[in-house]
Amino acid sequence: MGDEHSLIPKDSFVFKLPKKSPLVLRMVVLMFVMVCAVYICSICLKQIGVVPSAGFLNVEVFEKPCPEPNIEPWDIPYVHHPKPKTYNREECSCNPVRYFAILSMQRSGSGWFETLLNNHTNISSNGEIFSVKDRRANVSTIFETLDKVYNLDWLSSASKNECTSAVGLKWMLNQGLMKHHEEIVEYFKTRGVSAIFLFRRNLLRRMISVLANSYDKDAKLLNGTHKSHVHSPKEAEILARYKPLINTTLLISDLKQVQEMTTKALSYFNTTRHIFLYYEDVVKNRTRLDDVQEFLKVPKLNLKSRQVKIHHGPLSQHVQNWEEVQKTLNGTGFENFILEDYRK
Ligand SMILES: *[C@@H]1O[C@H](CO)[C@@H](O)[C@H](O)[C@H]1NC(C)=O
Ligand SMILES: *[C@@H]1O[C@H](CO)[C@@H](O)[C@H](O)[C@H]1NC(C)=O
Ligand SMILES: *[C@@H]1O[C@H](CO)[C@@H](O)[C@H](O)[C@H]1NC(C)=O
Ligand SMILES: *[C@@H]1O[C@H](CO)[C@@H](O)[C@H](O)[C@H]1NC(C)=O
Ligand SMILES: *[C@@H]1O[C@H](CO)[C@@H](O)[C@H](O)[C@H]1NC(C)=O
Ligand SMILES: *[C@@H]1O[C@H](CO)[C@@H](O)[C@H](O)[C@H]1NC(C)=O
Ligand SMILES: *[C@@H]1O[C@H](CO)[C@@H](O)[C@H](O)[C@H]1NC(C)=O
Ligand SMILES: *[C@@H]1O[C@H](CO)[C@@H](O)[C@H](O)[C@H]1NC(C)=O
Repeated sequence: MGDEHSLIPKDSFVFKLPKKSPLVLRMVVLMFVMVCAVYICSICLKQIGVVPSAGFLNVEVFEKPCPEPNIEPWDIPYVHHPKPKTYNREECSCNPVRYFAILSMQRSGSGWFETLLNNHTNISSNGEIFSVKDRRANVSTIFETLDKVYNLDWLSSASKNECTSAVGLKWMLNQGLMKHHEEIVEYFKTRGVSAIFLFRRNLLRRMISVLANSYDKDAKLLNGTHKSHVHSPKEAEILARYKPLINTTLLISDLKQVQEMTTKALSYFNTTRHIFLYYEDVVKNRTRLDDVQEFLKVPKLNLKSRQVKIHHGPLSQHVQNWEEVQKTLNGTGFENFILEDYRK
């Protein structure tokens, strides 16, 4: 019965076709044009990116979308919603995440600075990830590593996982950063990574710290273990007992080299979004930490670190050949390093 019924209109249609063919043809062409027009329109809308918000073409919504974050238009490239492979962001799945990298040099206070950042409930700074050579073997391994960090899939003692709203790492200039700077700047720009420069004003103090730390790698002054950072005044006092001898023949050129490297790093990365900090300024004035929290757009908290400074007090106490060092730097551009602890 059903078959017979459905056949009737078909027959009549086939029968009538030759007679009304001009009109039918016109209709077919018109339909075709309309379908084409709708198709082209939908493609255009898709490319412009109107479809998701316009919402008239996609009737079904599978996932509840996150509310639009309330941010300035210039800020949009720096706000992300990563979906980690290894866990679910749970109640914080809609919290936007910002990507950062602390760009620094060894013995510039970045270890201390990082413990301060990690004291924030919403910041995960995953340490000196590129100290491992394999990870910085080439640009592809670097990007692979960064992708994992920024997708919140890098699990370290610092990761706060689901409620992280700023994720990053500590990256020393000599860990592939200068070598591959062009590609890394491009990555920072396309992925919306912000840079936090942390350098030390007093490069002489930095040099003493480098020498002492390198000495302790062999000497292991703290009960036979080498420590780069300490958590008690007693430990600091033991480490500071060692007074390095500074080779004054190389002193000026060494200081110049460090200075040039920081200038270069700044000029390479100056087109990325960045903030510039001197370690001494953060020590002296904690409002610099507020600036950093504002830069990372995290709620402002009073950040604390358990780390204790190793070399404090006048520099003259920490160097074997202080007179010679003084003489070498007197009258040079580095004179101010010997004058005062925290001066420009
Ligand atoms: C921040 O430091 C304080 C004091 O040391 C500590 O009580 C608190 O648990 C730390 N918070 C985080 C998130 O590490
Ligand atoms: C990059 O380094 C890794 C690890 O050393 C290696 O497996 C890979 O082939 C290298 N890729 C390129 C493009 O050189
Ligand atoms: C910060 O973390 C807490 C939980 O530790 C979470 O409730 C809060 O939403 C997070 N804030 C941001 C801005 O991500
Ligand atoms: C070294 O070990 C001794 C005994 O185990 C301990 O009392 C002392 O505090 C340790 N010193 C440091 C600097 O860790
Ligand atoms: C200082 O460095 C120069 C050049 O490397 C070297 O010739 C000299 O022996 C060094 N002086 C000391 C005291 O180590
Ligand atoms: C970045 O540094 C280069 C080289 O020092 C300089 O020519 C350029 O003007 C700087 N750009 C910005 C945006 O500061
Ligand atoms: C600390 O730094 C802020 C700017 O970051 C400045 O306004 C303030 O005067 C400084 N305070 C002191 C005591 O130097
Ligand atoms: C630095 O040099 C000046 C002369 O140029 C001298 O008067 C001064 O005592 C020197 N200072 C030190 C600390 O050697």
